[in-house]
Amino acid sequence: MGKFVIVGGNRITGEARVGGAKNSVLPIMAATVLNGKINVLHDIPHLSDVEIMTKILKSIGCEVTREGTTIVVDSTGLSGCEIPESLVREMRSSFIFLGAMLSRCGKVVISYPGGCEIGPRPIDLHLRSLREMGAIIEEKHGFLYCEAKELKGTEIQLDFPSVGATENIMLAAVFAKGTTVIRNAAREPEIIDLENFINAMGGKISGAGSATICIEGVETLNEVEHKIIPDRIVAGTFLAAAAITKGNIILTNIIPEHLQSILYKLKECGCHVVCKNNTVKLQAPEKLVAIDSIKTLPYPGFPTDMQSQMMALMTISDGISVFIETIFENRFKHAEELMRMGANIKVDGRVAIVKGVKKLSGAMVNAKDLRGGAALILAGLAAEGKTIVENAKHVERGYDHLEEVLKSLGANIQYL
Ligand code: EPZ
Repeated sequence: MGKFVIVGGNRITGEARVGGAKNSVLPIMAATVLNGKINVLHDIPHLSDVEIMTKILKSIGCEVTREGTTIVVDSTGLSGCEIPESLVREMRSSFIFLGAMLSRCGKVVISYPGGCEIGPRPIDLHLRSLREMGAIIEEKHGFLYCEAKELKGTEIQLDFPSVGATENIMLAAVFAKGTTVIRNAAREPEIIDLENFINAMGGKISGAGSATICIEGVETLNEVEHKIIPDRIVAGTFLAAAAITKGNIILTNIIPEHLQSILYKLKECGCHVVCKNNTVKLQAPEKLVAIDSIKTLPYPGFPTDMQSQMMALMTISDGISVFIETIFENRFKHAEELMRMGANIKVDGRVAIVKGVKKLSGAMVNAKDLRGGAALILAGLAAEGKTIVENAKHVERGYDHLEEVLKSLGANIQYL
């Protein structure tokens, strides 16, 4: 299962490079099935989620090789259309294969992804949209049997700007007859990266990053080489590590535009932040200032994936902060673990009230999900004494050797 052992008190100082974004790599790996040719992807982090995507691609007949941070996917030999249930259960975002497989082979059998640690994770928007494009989707015995003789371009209005649903529609629309328009689309930077990847193959997509995306169906796609955008959540997590330890850090290979809402909150709690080209520099205050309220919203609002890390910061601020989690139903599981370290937090549904305490004390805590686990590591960096974060596997899904990076920045942290 693995655990992180941290002895708190060291300042996080120094320079680190941010790698490719998990939430961009995953949909782009699914998109490699589209062209039936070679796809060269650069700046791929070493993550367990990437390993699962690799296993899925191999299970349906693609060849996948990896050298350092470059992955080559040859989807020429794609033969199967059934995504292994065990892998879908292990990683719900493998559901992103739905749109890509319908496009490539007109057929896919995939198990219901089910919920995960942070909430029920419904897929109604995915299914309704693909049905509107002409897919026949039968749900039985926990599986989805999907067929599409021909996908047709259509106008789709999303009730919620779902990232996954937007991506599945884009992938299903690439070869569809005619033009597909997605309204109220997700605007995350990872959507823009997916558009750029598909267009580099010869696709015709425009509007990613705005609320309206247009996809014109094409006949064929060609080989492609692509560099994944930097991970804005990993960047935010490293910045928070410096902020919680009164440290100072320089991050390279970042896109400042993608970090705006995170940088704004870090400045609000007293950090001095300077961006220059693809670098950001943060100097933490001696005492963090309480941020009145942090409300998670779809991009460009404050990202839900940074909520738990900011909560860790606020546990030792000089006042009271109110967190409102509007994206997921159950994303405060880290609160009870932080309370074991002496934090003062009251959770009521989607609202959490954090009253800053003088100091956290090290304890044995449990990572319940990816970002909650990262938050517990941040808290351990600042706490008095030793903190043991169990269930490290959650953290390995989204952070590439986090302990090595933090050690290089001065942390006293071991992975056991
Ligand atoms: C993506 O998940 C990210 N994952 C999540 O990152 C991220 O938190 C989330 O977007 C929001 O930004 C990947 O990109 C792999 P959604 P996704 O569809 O696509 C509701 C991390 O820590 N919804 O935008 O699953 C849903 O219940 C992970 O890196 C429906 O109701 O997110 C949720 O409340 C966690 N019906 C909200 O939308 C649907 O059909 C956001 O979901 C689909 C979604």
